This record gives sequence, C-alpha cells and structure tokens, in this order.
Amino acid sequence: MAEEPSFSGEAIAAAWERHRTRLFEGQRELSEWIVRHLEPRPGQTILELTSGPGETGFLVAERIGPDGRLISSDLNPGMVAAARRGAEARGLTNVEFRVIDAANIDLPDASVDGVLSRFGLMLVPEREAAFAECRRVVRDGGRLSYGVWGPFDRNPWLTQLVGALLQHGHTPGGDPGGPGGVFSLATPEINRHVLEEAGFTDVEVEEVPGAQHYVSVNEYWDVQTEIAGPMSGIVRSLDADGQAAIKSTLTQMVEPYLVAGGGLELPSLALGVSARAA
Ligand SMILES: C[S@@+](CC[C@H](N)C(=O)[O-])C[C@H]1O[C@@H](n2cnc3c(N)ncnc32)[C@H](O)[C@@H]1O
Repeated sequence: MAEEPSFSGEAIAAAWERHRTRLFEGQRELSEWIVRHLEPRPGQTILELTSGPGETGFLVAERIGPDGRLISSDLNPGMVAAARRGAEARGLTNVEFRVIDAANIDLPDASVDGVLSRFGLMLVPEREAAFAECRRVVRDGGRLSYGVWGPFDRNPWLTQLVGALLQHGHTPGGDPGGPGGVFSLATPEINRHVLEEAGFTDVEVEEVPGAQHYVSVNEYWDVQTEIAGPMSGIVRSLDADGQAAIKSTLTQMVEPYLVAGGGLELPSLALGVSARAA
C-alpha cells in the first residue's frame, strides 16, 4: 500500500469556500432537520461545532434574532475565516467566530442553549470526549442536534471514489469505521449509546436520504478530491498518468449512476440525530 501523503488545512478550507453553495445545498434537507430539532428561539446562545464555511449555523443565526448569539466554530482556522466571510456577505451581525476543538471546547459549563454540527462529530477521534464536552457546555434541558453519514453501503457518492483509489493501492483516511472515520457514527445504535453515556436523553435518529449531482465524472472527481483532505493529499502526490488511471477506473465504476441526458446522480444517506441534555 502507498503511504498516505499529507494535505494542507488551508487548501482544504479554500476548496470548501469555493464550493460552499454546492456543499450546503446538496445536503440542505439535513441542515433543516438539524435546525428544526435544535428548536432555536430568539435570544438564545447556540454553538456550532465543526462549522466548515458555516452555512448550517447561519440558518440558526436567522432564527435567534438580534438578541441571540451564534458561536460559529471549527478546528481549522481557514474554515473559521471562510465562515466569517460568509456571515459578512449575508449581513449577519449576531455571529462570533472561534477556533474550537470539539473534543476540548473552550467555553464555560452550561454556557449555551444548544449545540449543532453537520458532518463533523464522526471525524473527531476522541469521540467520548467530544460528546462529554457538548453535554458540559449545554445547559440542563438544552439540545444537541447534528448530522452524520449513514452506513458505507448507502453512500455511493463517497464509496465509489474511495473504491477507485483502493483499487489502485491507496487508502484514504484509514479505517472509515474506526475512530475519527467518516462512517464511525453510521448507525442509530452507536449514536444512542454515545449520547446516553454522555448524559443526553430523548434521543431521536432519522434517516435523511439525498443525492449528489455532477455534470460529469470529471466534475465529481475535481470537487471531491479538492474538499476531502486525505483524498486530496493522495491525488496531489500523483502524476497525470497516475490520476488518469484512477479516473478511468472510477468512470467504469459509476456507470450505474449515469442519468439520462448526461451527468451523475450519486445517492447519499445521512442520519439526523438530536437529544436533550438530561
Ligand atoms: C466534512 S466538513 C463539514 C463542514 C460543514 N459542517 C458542512 O456540513 O458543510 C468537517 C469539518 O469538521 C472540522 N473538524 C474536524 N475535526 C474537528 C474537531 N476535532 N473539532 C472541530 N472541528 C473539526 C473540519 O475542519 C471540517 O471543517
């Protein structure tokens, strides 16, 4: 197996900012599920973890009004800067921006009314610490609402690309089901378990199906290999022939997902998860 090359957090953040609309809108339904189950009210203080460029949190900022406060946060300072620019472009004035590690949240106990995250908590290797930290910072009765990817075999949008890389001897990101893996919170049972262990109750988990649309295999390849850190590192370490060989494998693999009139439709399945701080 080839060794996994490194990638730059700054470059990944720049790619997320470039593709922010596609990345948000492609899973808008999940964002709306998260916000609905967070139940934000005017005047509340809400923390967004793993914000990326911040779009899901911005839906909350609109709901909590001028007297509310959204703390938009991510571990990657480049993502935090992208979120700040996104909020400025929308004219949002009730948002502050922080670099925060979800496993070690730099906020006082019981200092927020709710916590949200979209597609981030499963990436934190210190999972138990992250959920304990969410419970610590949210007041009693407050809410945690988040989204994660469902099982491997229900997410061809990712597994096709990973499969093509694997066929060429590359292993992006290690074990996808292991700690910090993209599918490490992929079942209702595991989410219930970690939430209840951390002191949450009234756990609700719902499947949120979706699909990603690309005009071509090239577009699918370009977007995903720019935004996904481990894949980006591998692809940038390859010469043109190496990339072309993987793309050719990928083109064959995604044939079942070609749609009439051109383009690709790749199914996805997310889980919306919410709970109350007991
Ligand atoms: C897949 S992106 C999701 C971005 C955004 N929430 C969205 O749904 O479009 C995952 C984000 O989690 C952040 N992240 C990863 N580990 C983290 C940690 N330990 N603490 C905070 N953020 C983290 C990454 O920097 C990245 O911005």
